[in-house]
Amino acid sequence: MEFKTIKIQLGESMAWINLDRPEVRNAMDATMISELTEVFEWLNSRDDIRVIVIRGSGKAFSAGADLGYMKSMAGFNESENVADAERLSQLFRAVYFCNKAVIADVHGACIGGANGIVSAADIVIAEKETVFAFSEVKLGLTPATISPFVIARIGNTAARELMLTGRRFTAEEAKTFGLVNSVVDASEMVDKEQSYIAEFLQASPDAIAQCKALIRMNQGLDDPYDPIFERTSRLIAAQRVSAAGQEGLKAFFEKRKPQWGI
Ligand code: COA
Repeated sequence: MEFKTIKIQLGESMAWINLDRPEVRNAMDATMISELTEVFEWLNSRDDIRVIVIRGSGKAFSAGADLGYMKSMAGFNESENVADAERLSQLFRAVYFCNKAVIADVHGACIGGANGIVSAADIVIAEKETVFAFSEVKLGLTPATISPFVIARIGNTAARELMLTGRRFTAEEAKTFGLVNSVVDASEMVDKEQSYIAEFLQASPDAIAQCKALIRMNQGLDDPYDPIFERTSRLIAAQRVSAAGQEGLKAFFEKRKPQWGI
């Protein structure tokens, strides 16, 4: 399989996916979103794959949604804009509903939409120096499509603090909030990843798949066609073309503070 924005490496029972746009800190544009969705759906369909690891090339795991691509949505009509937001939601669902054990190895920065992937994964290992943020409100946006997965993972109290302030937080804090399972030094990442893989490979693949379904059922988030996914897609589609969304995105690229008109 040929990809432009990700790299994939297969091993026995294993797949490693690298987000691979390091020059923009692995920001997720339309191509990356579609390639990642495709690769997760393909790996999910393969009986020989039991564990999937996702990580980022270069300095950071991911800076979240590509803000240039978000900004360009102002030139799309409403149905194109909504369809595009639904593709983002589809990516998080492809990770969340995947029957394989999914590990996210996080380093550098994990911002905005990157936390959708992290929250949809089963195990998150973060390097100690990683900076986290749900920065959307500071860009005039909302963490809409990621919210079902994030709130299922960290709960309402943490979500209110982190999503409403948009503040940066550390890997240790992310662990306290339940976003991250393990915090490691960079030199310990591979060993920690291998220790989780070794556990998963001792378990029955069928039992892992059933156990993931069980956890989703107990969360009340076990239907990939739940209307929440369409509603959150519509919310971000509207927000990114709003005056606040366009001003926040413009300000990011002009490296200035947004003017909210208040
Ligand atoms: N979308 C598009 N481009 C992005 C991006 C994003 N989400 N995040 C970073 N970039 C680009 C920058 O514009 C910069 O481009 P330039 O070299 O042409 O100026 C390049 O990636 C490197 O970014 P920089 O900020 O210099 O890297 P850093 O290592 O100092 O910091 C981050 C990394 C991720 C902490 C920082 O880039 C950041 O906060 N980005 C914004 C993330 C964000 O708010 N995402 C919200 C998504 S909803």
